Order: sequence, then C-alpha cells, then structure tokens
Amino acid sequence: MSDEIEDIGSNPSPRAGIAEVVAARLSRRAALRGLAGAGAAAALADQLIEDATAQIAQSQLRTAQIPMTGGPSTLTFPELHHQMAQTDAVAEGYEIQHVIRWGDPVLPQAPAFDPMRQTAQAQALQFGYNNDFLDFIPLPRGSNGSDHGLLWVNHEYTSTRLIFPSTDGRPVSNRQTTAEQAAVEMMAHGGSLVEIRRVNGRWQSLPGGTLNRRITAETPMRLSGPAAGHPRMRTNNDPTGTRVLGMLNQCAGGNTPWGTVLTTEENFNAYFSGEAAATGEQAAAYRRYGIPRQPVYNWAAHVPRFSLDREPNEPNRFGWIVEIDPFDPNSTPIKRTALGRFKHEGCTHAVAPDGRVVIYMGDDERNDYVYKFVTARPWNPNDLSANRDLLDEGTLYVAKFEDDGTLRWLPLTHGEGPLTSANNFHNQGDVLIETRRAADLLGATPMDRPEDVETNPATGRVYVMLTNNASRTTANAANPRPRNAHGHVLEIIPPGAGTAAVDHAGLEARWEIFLLAGKPGQDVGARYHRATSDQGWLSCPDNCAFDSKGRIWIATDGAPSAAGVADGLYAADTMGGGRALTKLFYQAPSGAEVCGPTFTPDNKTLFLAIQHPGEDSGSSFNNPSTRWPDFDPAMPPRPTVIAIVKKDGGVIG
Ligand code: FEO
Ligand code: CA
Ligand code: CA
Ligand code: CA
Repeated sequence: MSDEIEDIGSNPSPRAGIAEVVAARLSRRAALRGLAGAGAAAALADQLIEDATAQIAQSQLRTAQIPMTGGPSTLTFPELHHQMAQTDAVAEGYEIQHVIRWGDPVLPQAPAFDPMRQTAQAQALQFGYNNDFLDFIPLPRGSNGSDHGLLWVNHEYTSTRLIFPSTDGRPVSNRQTTAEQAAVEMMAHGGSLVEIRRVNGRWQSLPGGTLNRRITAETPMRLSGPAAGHPRMRTNNDPTGTRVLGMLNQCAGGNTPWGTVLTTEENFNAYFSGEAAATGEQAAAYRRYGIPRQPVYNWAAHVPRFSLDREPNEPNRFGWIVEIDPFDPNSTPIKRTALGRFKHEGCTHAVAPDGRVVIYMGDDERNDYVYKFVTARPWNPNDLSANRDLLDEGTLYVAKFEDDGTLRWLPLTHGEGPLTSANNFHNQGDVLIETRRAADLLGATPMDRPEDVETNPATGRVYVMLTNNASRTTANAANPRPRNAHGHVLEIIPPGAGTAAVDHAGLEARWEIFLLAGKPGQDVGARYHRATSDQGWLSCPDNCAFDSKGRIWIATDGAPSAAGVADGLYAADTMGGGRALTKLFYQAPSGAEVCGPTFTPDNKTLFLAIQHPGEDSGSSFNNPSTRWPDFDPAMPPRPTVIAIVKKDGGVIG
C-alpha cells in the first residue's frame, strides 16, 4: 500500500537505543563546548547521529562479510538507468508483456470494462484493483511447468481518485464515496485466481479457466484456530464467531508445501470507523491497530458491519492470514487465527528438518515486529489432505534482535510470562486477537516496517524487507538509523543455514544486515557492495523474490520521485564476490510501486504486479499523471500484472 493510505505507527513504546546514547553524548559535548542555540545543537545532534549510525552500520557490515570468491556480480543484464517517466522500462534484451489489467475478465460472464460506468456486478467478475502478491502455480497440478499455470493475485486496496470519474471537477475522495462506489471498491478488493498460458512466446490470461475465481470483501470465509468462536469474534450476523464475509487489504503473501495460497490482511483498520474508537470498550485495542474514529474509506456509512458502533467486534475478524485452495473453486477460504492478528505483510514458509512447517511473517507498521509460526506437527507429503488443518495448531513467536547478532524467538503462548489474566489475557484467543500487545509485553524488537519476508531456497537464510521508518528516534542494532527514510534489508540466519538441514523451528538464530538503502554519499549510512553503481542504489525495499541461483530481486515502494527515481526492481547476489551489489533491472511507470515478483520454475519468466500507477500527488481519474499501460485517452491508469521475458528466450538475470 502506498504511504497515503497507511497510517503512522501505533506502537507507543519502542525501547531505548541510539537516540539516548546520542542525547547523552550531545548534552555532554554541548556542555563541554559551551554551545548554545537550537541550531548549533541540532547540527551537532545530526553529526552525532551520523557518527553513531556509521559506527553501527560499519560493525554490522563487518559481521556481514562473506568470504569473497570469484568476480563481482553474477548478473549479466545491462543495468538500466534510473528514470521517472509515464511508462516503464526494463534492461536491454528483455521484453515487457501485459498479462492482465484492472477490469479485464476473470470469469467468463464479465462484461467489457467501462471505467466511465463501472458497477459492482461487473467488478465482481473482473480483475480487481491494486495487484500485489503473485503466486505462479504450474499446471498440470504438481508439474514443474513454466508455460501454463494458475496465477494467484492479491488485490490490496483501491485508489479512489483514480478509479471514479469526477462529477464536480474535483477528484473523488475515498472519504466521500457513494454507496454504489463503496460497493465497487469492495468488489475490487480481495484476490483473483486466473489461468494463464504462454502462446507463441506471449503470456495471456484465460477468462474461461475452470479454476478461475474472484474473491472479494464479501466472499464467505471461515475462521479457524484458537481465536475462532471467541466472544470478541461474535457479531449480530455471526453469533458463532466462526464465519466472516471477505478479506481486506491483501498485501504480500506466500504458499504452503501442500499447495495452498497464503494471503495476508494488512491495513484492515482503514475500512472501519466510529465513535467507539474513542469511547468504546475496545478503544485501547483499536488504537494499537490504528482503527480510526473518522473513516479512511467511507464504507461504514453504507455497510453497517464496518461501523464500530454497530459491530464493535467486526474488526477483530480481520488482520489474519487467509489460506485458499487454488484447486477447488468451491472451497471456503479460511482465516488461520493461530498465526496472529496484525498488519500482515510477508508470509513465507520453510520446512524444519523434522518436517514441521515454519511461516515467517512481518507486521508492516513503524516500530512493529517480525514473527514466525511453527506447526505442532510435521507436514505429510504423501497425503495432502492430512495437512488441511496443520496451520491451526502450533506456536507463534515474535523476534527479539539482540545487539550482538543473536535473534531470540519469544513464544506468544497464553499462561507464559506476562501473557496471563493479570494482563487481561484469559486464553490463547485473547493473545491472538491482541497479538501486538502480547508482543509488546514480551519485549520484542521494534522494527522499521517489516514488509515482505522471503526464504532464500539456495541458502536457507530468510530476508526481511524493512521499508523505512522516518519517525524512528530510538535506534537498535537491527534498525541502526534514526529517521530511516530509505529502509534496509536484514537477513535471518537459522542454525544450519547453508547446509541441507536448516533449523527454522528453533528458539535462536543469528541476524545480519544485508544492505542499508539510500544513495551512497548522500544518505547517511547507505551501504551496499562497494562496486554498486550510480544506478544500482535503491530506496524503500518492499517485496522480494529469489531466482533458482539464490540471487535476490528487490522491489521498491517509495523511491524518491523528487530525485527523478521511480520505484523499480533491483537484483543482487546474496553470496560470493557480488554480495549486495544491486543492479537496476526494471523501473515502474510514474506513481506506481513494484509488487509480487515471482519466477516460473524455469526462471525464463518473471511476473511483476505494478500497483497504483498514476498515484502521484494531484493525479486523478480525469487528470492522471500517466495512462499506463494502455495510453488510451479513454482509459485511466490500470494496475497490471506484467511478464518479463528475455528476447532470446533465455534465463532471466
Ligand atoms: Fe501493503 Fe506494507 O505494503
Ligand atoms: Ca502494496
Ligand atoms: Ca508492501
Ligand atoms: Ca510499501
């Protein structure tokens, strides 16, 4: 999601760190020098923060050194030049294909897209808005095919002012939508499952695919796991607390070894509003999740369940990981409460040596946390149906990143430590519904907005995209920069990483910083491989993927447009002499972020979800900053899934 919809941090208690150290040094040095005046003090503070940051960054990067072998980057594509333009660009020798756009048919009955007269009925059959996480699932099922498959796509949110034509000369505001517009928005959320095929070298979507499916903010779903049926999950429409309509703000995601998709509810808070946010029984809990009194989206005005005053428990039914079986179009999506409730972003699986499945996750909020869930039982590769409810039982942990490079996983288990009735946690359901507060009490490490989390299949290291945190005042070693405007990438190194038996399920790991983003020489503390070029630096890492050689592909959201840099996709080796030598491969059209990178098994196609093109300030349906991808005067910009292939048909990279 772009920063315009995202709210500021709601964790009130990030722990002490570099700012205290800096403040102490500042007062001592200021006293010694007899400095007076706010300007001089501020300049000195800047200098000290810079010094301290550089020291931390230096020491972290020292621990991050991996023995250098061979030449620099193994990536051979010619680096793209930074640009900011109405259209997108890819490295020479590669080609961009449009696979499916907002409004294209997903189901065969879908009418032709007419953006001047969009209806909820049409939108429910068409590709939704703001595509994010992508999962390519080869067909036939179980094959390793790379020319035919199912594409799962998250639809995160709606950019209201780019979706609806103006009726009064002003852009339509998300706070003032009509009932009809809100209904369109609800149908543009959720996800799409669509069959795709490469024919004569070109990818196309198949609206007649028998497994195709649209899931929206109204699709019936089931709640399962320890919080299902909890009194705080019950509503007038669902006195059982086990059934819910729809999923909201699906951001990044993942999948399971048994072939289901995991899609994540991120900024679910934005859809609820009401006086209860200030005065209700659950006001404190709402606050910790940023659930507002005044609407961000105007849905509560039209649909009673989004009003906190009508249904105070409805928001408790959002903020979960949703599991979907892509091979059964009639299956009910299931919200797996055992995996915790927060602004879920990344969700990547790994398998421990004993077969238990581990799901790594991030909570994308300033000063919130990294989590993992470990199943109670191993998964069964021989009987896929035996894994049906594997995600309902297990242990949820939150990460504490010690300054010495140790990572401790702290269990969020009712009855242990502070997670007892004394703190109003009466059962595991309470712990899960208020996962953030439970993690606060355990002393988890506040992070710089954990977005995507992905496992590198080549090494077993797990990568966390920490996108930025400009409001950070108190640094810690894992988040070493106060006012971190550009973000960084952190590696979790479980015991056994680099061998065949990586212990993802254990209570401890190591961590290192892979890179500190920003422009070297300009942005304090920016660190990459020393050979990274002027075009290779990046800002605001958000999503990532790994190719089969274990190289990382980093997508950004929040590049400094003022500096003439659009969001893009950057690739780097993770090991050897080219470690952290990032190179620019693709650059998005104006206003867009790059999401959902995923490769076909043969690594000859890379799919990207280009989200919110044209979402620049002052841009609207009637006056968009770009009309990508159609450049048709009758078409607004359209979020689109693209496929990038090499012109000679070779492997990407
Ligand atoms: Fe939906 Fe955190 O980006
Ligand atoms: Ca997004
Ligand atoms: Ca994101
Ligand atoms: Ca983002």
